[in-house]
Amino acid sequence: MPDVSWALGRATELAERGPQHGGNPRVGCVLLAADGAVVSEGWHGGAGTAHAEAAALAGADPARLRGATAVVTLEPCHHSGRTPPCSRALHAAGIARVVHAVGDPDPVASGGARWLAGQGVDVLTAEDAGVPVDVTGRAARVSAAWVTAMRRRRPWVVGKSAMSLDGRVAAADGTSRWITGAAARTHAHTVRADVDAVVVGTGTVLTDDPALTARRADGTLACHQPLRVVVGRRAVPPGAALRQAPGDWLHLPTRDLRAALDQLWDAGVRRVLVEGGPTLLSRALREHLVDELHAYLAPVLLGGGLPAVTDLGVSTLAGAPRWRPVTTRTLGEDLLVVAHRPEGDL
Ligand SMILES: NC(=O)c1ccc[n+]([C@@H]2O[C@H](COP(=O)([O-])OP(=O)(O)OC[C@H]3O[C@@H](n4cnc5c(N)ncnc54)[C@H](OP(=O)(O)O)[C@@H]3O)[C@@H](O)[C@H]2O)c1
Repeated sequence: MPDVSWALGRATELAERGPQHGGNPRVGCVLLAADGAVVSEGWHGGAGTAHAEAAALAGADPARLRGATAVVTLEPCHHSGRTPPCSRALHAAGIARVVHAVGDPDPVASGGARWLAGQGVDVLTAEDAGVPVDVTGRAARVSAAWVTAMRRRRPWVVGKSAMSLDGRVAAADGTSRWITGAAARTHAHTVRADVDAVVVGTGTVLTDDPALTARRADGTLACHQPLRVVVGRRAVPPGAALRQAPGDWLHLPTRDLRAALDQLWDAGVRRVLVEGGPTLLSRALREHLVDELHAYLAPVLLGGGLPAVTDLGVSTLAGAPRWRPVTTRTLGEDLLVVAHRPEGDL
């Protein structure tokens, strides 16, 4: 058997090139000939473009596909959307074996593994194919946010806060621009450019008047602009910057965050960035609606002012949920900590 473990690791690297916005999962695919040589590889570049399997098949010499193994990070789809089903394309090309890391939770697109097995293709999960747990785990993580959102039928929520070392997002006099440096702010814009929607509360709109666009370091607009969403009962002022900026924006005049997320889900939003402020972020945390936290920490002490989060309903240390650190990196003089909600709380 060709080195499926290596191929799944490579497929994961390829998947990571794809966008996290646009409603589709990140997927990578490596096609291995019967002798283990790599025939071709592909990844999904976002909604409306070829799926990873189709991209890999398109780049392959058809003669080398008979009896080949397709190694994919996600079960091949089995439905005709903007692109034809990958299950049928793999079968038609003569693929003999399919190894996938994660099953497709989308009720519309799933069923590829069963259909392929019914056609006599040898279909294995990565685990059954003997791929080591760390390789399978990394492959699963590449689409975990999308998979979780699909299973739950609610967007994956990233909560963001840019704070001082002592956890403040504004000084005592209300000044808050800028707590973090240029590198951290540029990074935050790349995150904006990789979500379907950016959400803030009315308080942030009335205080800061943000445009909420995703911008590059030179100030130009990024290729993908998220939907800009304001949540809260107060009106968005007629002259608000987010009204003038290019792209779509939406005011949800409610404090019911679950209903707001349901409405965004129905509008096709799968990945959301809640940028604050502290009132909105705290409510979202308290209601267990935040899946991933991005805490930008600047080496400045404010001693007072607005805390990044307020009452979370935690009364004793033992009752405080411990988040799972995913990455820590320095951005200029600042630090970014990315953490996921504790397992089992999803
Ligand atoms: N450093 C950072 O990362 C960062 C990011 C954003 C903001 N900020 C700072 O935060 C400050 C603004 O803070 P803020 O807390 O007033 O802003 P906010 O969280 O954006 O807005 C709070 C408002 O949101 C509405 N809201 C929507 N859903 C709600 C819910 N479930 N529960 C309660 N209220 C809800 C309420 O207004 P309605 O009465 O309209 O319903 C509430 O007053 C500014 O100084 C800004 O600079 C800092």
